[in-house]
Amino acid sequence: MIKHDVVIVGAGLAGMRAALEVCKDLDVGILSKVYPSRSHSGAAQGGIAASLGNVEKDSWEEHMFDTVKGGDFLNDQDAVEEYVKAASRVIYELEHMGCTFSRTLDGRIAQRSFGGHSKPRACFSADRTGHAILHALHEQLLKNAKAIKIYSEWYMHSLIVDDGRCNGIVVSDLRTGAVEVMHAKAVIFCTGGYGRVFKITSNAFASTADGVIAALHAGVPLEDAEFVQFHPSGLWRQGILFSEAARGEGGFLLNGKGERFMERYASARMELAPRDIVARAEQSEIDAGRGVNGQDYIHLDLRHLGEKKIMERLPQIRQLGIDFIGVDCARAPLPIQPTAHYSMGGIPTDMHGQTIVDDRGTPLKGFYAAGECACVSVHGANRLGTNSLLEAVVFGERAGKSALEYARNAGFGTVNEAREKTRVLKTFEEIFQRDGSESYNKIRDEMKEIMMSHCGVFRDEGRLKTCVSAVKELRARYRKGKVTDKGKLFNTELYEIIELGNMLEMAEIIAVAALARRESRGGHARTDFPKRDDEHFLQHSLVYDKGGELEIKYKPVTITRHIPADRTY
Ligand code: FUM
Repeated sequence: MIKHDVVIVGAGLAGMRAALEVCKDLDVGILSKVYPSRSHSGAAQGGIAASLGNVEKDSWEEHMFDTVKGGDFLNDQDAVEEYVKAASRVIYELEHMGCTFSRTLDGRIAQRSFGGHSKPRACFSADRTGHAILHALHEQLLKNAKAIKIYSEWYMHSLIVDDGRCNGIVVSDLRTGAVEVMHAKAVIFCTGGYGRVFKITSNAFASTADGVIAALHAGVPLEDAEFVQFHPSGLWRQGILFSEAARGEGGFLLNGKGERFMERYASARMELAPRDIVARAEQSEIDAGRGVNGQDYIHLDLRHLGEKKIMERLPQIRQLGIDFIGVDCARAPLPIQPTAHYSMGGIPTDMHGQTIVDDRGTPLKGFYAAGECACVSVHGANRLGTNSLLEAVVFGERAGKSALEYARNAGFGTVNEAREKTRVLKTFEEIFQRDGSESYNKIRDEMKEIMMSHCGVFRDEGRLKTCVSAVKELRARYRKGKVTDKGKLFNTELYEIIELGNMLEMAEIIAVAALARRESRGGHARTDFPKRDDEHFLQHSLVYDKGGELEIKYKPVTITRHIPADRTY
């Protein structure tokens, strides 16, 4: 049995930041199914928000208002306030850790505009901000190697929970296939989101809902699962992100007629309206036959920015366009479409990273979560760009502090090692024994297709009902597949099947929660209920797994400073 005071699952920004807190006093194990610097946080391009005011006067109050309005007033405002107040401090901490931020002419951290932010507050490293922060944090992890043990390419299967307390996790080493128990006083999940459920997504291959589903199986509900963000600028057909920074630097969106169509949807903010509004505008243009060449894409035009600015501010976008579609954005517009990008929902936590198991705020002792897998909820129904890197760092630190505090005073709980390992080994065995005719690749493709077409940017009752029953059928077929590789060493087929199982469960939860929310709010747009309905739905959803049946409850939103109002841009 492996033993650490605190175990962290996921080594992206939130996980690494949490580890740096815990290691101040206790021993920590951090586990990732990829090498830490390959975590999906590295894909975040355009910036991290803070009201530094380096370009224009700014304040945390304005950052808070923009975030709450952007989130269509579903945000828990007490958490938002703490979060935006922490922003400037964490940026300077990252700078002191060695993060290479781009600079103003007088040497301060440069800041650019982003959708829904009323001031230029995105601090950035060209268009590789996540990558720059990820590497700075990874260096800090290596520097603290005495107190932090990194388990790269290990997979977390389940949480060990007994009598309302979390005592560790069950894991396996991808290289050897060995199943182990990791016994811990506290566990922190920083396992990311689940964008791979959709056909068009900017998410890395690792974003497969493993953490949220493990939490669900341990009795934790999932909060606000219906709110999935579609980013307006995904590369056509491939979903790869072209940062919103492109629009922050002055890029235009053009339909097939060459019109800057945002004039019709958000005339004051144009291309820099929040993402939910821009993604819906694009989809509306495409659905009305005004896509480019009558197809399902529109244009992101950066030519007027000039090659020099593009190379200084947006070099990665330029290279991605050249490499993946043969288009140089300095010379031609890029074909784009909305791409599944971020999960606003996840494991319910309080603002200290403590997970919560019901609508009354009951904690699951010893279990913490931060980053995209968690729902604090600072983003409400729609996250503003650059607020997610900030969330990962702020709440990674907070979850780390809370776990440290708890583990300092707690002993190790009891764990039945043989029972916990046997459960996972039995799952392996059951998968190896499947001898059906279904293809897992086909099931995965069909799930992605139906989620995109029936639970995407626009939704309605008919499509969502079809989606729920289609996903249920896919889950039945999933049990009738066949495994070809039954070996132990680096059995990627086995892990892909386990991940697919998690994604199918998540897909059903998203669609069921979307069906129940009979209103439109933020990233959840129902054509049959086009208005926001504060009377009935100014509430967070909580989906529980009750012995295989999903049950939905709701809990109130915390409102402190900003009363819900009309949301115009
Ligand atoms: O467009 C982007 O650069 C993405 C940033 C984010 O999701 O925060």
